[in-house]
Amino acid sequence: MTFDKPFTRQAQLPLDALHAAQRVLSSADLHRYQAADRGLGEVAALEQDYAAWQGAQFCLAVTSCGQAMQLALRAVGVCPGDQVLTNGFTLAPVPGAICAVGAQPLLVDITDDLVIDLVDLHAKARQSRARVLLLSHMRGHLVDMDKVCAIARDLKLTVIEDCAHTMGATWRGTKSGNFGRIGCFSTQSYKHLNSGEGGLLTTDDPDVMARAIIMSGSYMNYANHGAAPDERYFDNPKYDCPNMSARMDMLRAAILRPQLAKLDHAVDRWNKLCAVVAKGLEPLSAIKVPKHANSARRVGSSIQFRVPDFTAKDCQSFVLRSQERGVVVKWFGDTAPVGYTSNYTQWRYVSSQSLPQTDAALSTLFDMRIPLTFDIADCEVIANILCEVAQETLSEVHN
Ligand SMILES: Cc1ncc(COP(=O)(O)O)c(C=O)c1O
Repeated sequence: MTFDKPFTRQAQLPLDALHAAQRVLSSADLHRYQAADRGLGEVAALEQDYAAWQGAQFCLAVTSCGQAMQLALRAVGVCPGDQVLTNGFTLAPVPGAICAVGAQPLLVDITDDLVIDLVDLHAKARQSRARVLLLSHMRGHLVDMDKVCAIARDLKLTVIEDCAHTMGATWRGTKSGNFGRIGCFSTQSYKHLNSGEGGLLTTDDPDVMARAIIMSGSYMNYANHGAAPDERYFDNPKYDCPNMSARMDMLRAAILRPQLAKLDHAVDRWNKLCAVVAKGLEPLSAIKVPKHANSARRVGSSIQFRVPDFTAKDCQSFVLRSQERGVVVKWFGDTAPVGYTSNYTQWRYVSSQSLPQTDAALSTLFDMRIPLTFDIADCEVIANILCEVAQETLSEVHN
């Protein structure tokens, strides 16, 4: 049995997104601030829509989640030379954002369930001078957010959430992104909304939002936002904050708004598909799928699993054999960065750090995308193939 659908094909954009794009292109009003005399336009409307959907007071649309994180770090006062706490298991744009503002990532270990280890977080927050935690909800796995908030309160940490993989995920019914001072989201093609590239920054803090808007490059047109604070909050930022030019354009915003209207439905579908893959992996006890707390509602746009009995050679062979059967899995334990799966030992711009639990978890960790172009039957076939290939690989080890 082989599988023949591509893992990189995203769901089609809704028809109303194509119509909205056509309208924007016909108008030639592509810059978000260019058309204020003809109404606020698509970017401001997206900021309003997203703030309402997220349940945040303010929203700023930017060029990427990486840019949102950089603006967020600067907006809460991170300066060159500062240390910033973050998960040892995340994608390169997260330490990249910290380094881009001249700060240094202080990496925190993770658990077998792929979330930040709260004991290590507590210890490193106490022992270091880091006052900001850039918490990455990597691959949608939510740590106990009540405990994170308690640690942050006790140790006076400012939390910024990287929600690139958790747009629509909740902890005890509250959306991820609403726990920290700032939430950062991605609308890059493989995320939950697709504009090719793009990002959103949300907060309830008017001072933070005023600084972020000025730094995103508002050219003093900050009144033309859909979800911005009162003008008086800009009195100082307009003199103090440099322009980093990270604005979203009208075309991207136009295709995002119709997708946002359908996002809750997409989240339900992802979760159904992911549950089918997870169930299909259950018969093989050698495969370990991370556990989720009952309070967490993940978005199953990807699935992760570990096969702790595999050696590094088995992991390589498993990836190749799965690929031969049409199933694309990535391995986070490789010695060199491959595609998007680099690990912290390969980020030479970050000071060398030791994270034994992260090493153990990543050494046999696999990752697979679940695009919405798949259906339930596809997910059953994929799970069968993964079980068969894992079983074959294990049998060879034991013979
Ligand atoms: C965990 C995580 N955070 C942040 C980002 C950055 O998103 P963007 O590509 O929009 O900058 C990514 C991108 O893949 C990511 O995987």
